[in-house]
Amino acid sequence: MRVAIGCDHGGIVLKSAVLETLQEYGAEVEDFGTYSEASVDYPDYALKVAEAVASGKFDCGVIMCGTGIGISIAANKVKGIRAAVCTNTFMGEMTKRHNNANIIALGGRVITPDEAKAIVKAWLTAEYEGGRHQNRLDKISQIEDKYFK
Ligand code: RB5
Repeated sequence: MRVAIGCDHGGIVLKSAVLETLQEYGAEVEDFGTYSEASVDYPDYALKVAEAVASGKFDCGVIMCGTGIGISIAANKVKGIRAAVCTNTFMGEMTKRHNNANIIALGGRVITPDEAKAIVKAWLTAEYEGGRHQNRLDKISQIEDKYFK
């Protein structure tokens, strides 16, 4: 499994915990930055990770900012991306089972590194259920087709 990760300065506090968890699961990880606590703009890192996943070169991604919100909003502007902000393990699990989220977004000012690890594990180990949920994802794709040119 190839996983792209990226964050801004607000999310960097979670990065080493997320990397550790991904490595435990044998993931091949590419870190698209940022690499320091200097202030940066989260859309730049959202775009790097979202394009990496949408291109098919990576299976999925983890993005982090202060809340997880800004970076997920930006990532969701890339066609084919389903980026979900998760603040607990239930959300991590359900966003794979029902939404087949290909990126999860975490907030460095919202959750602890240990919580981030648990959420990433819940998401990685859950299985997409398909069925009625695929019908809903197809409807999301139809919205993309209507509005993404
Ligand atoms: C950066 O200060 C902060 O706005 C960003 O990390 C994120 O929380 C935005 O949603």
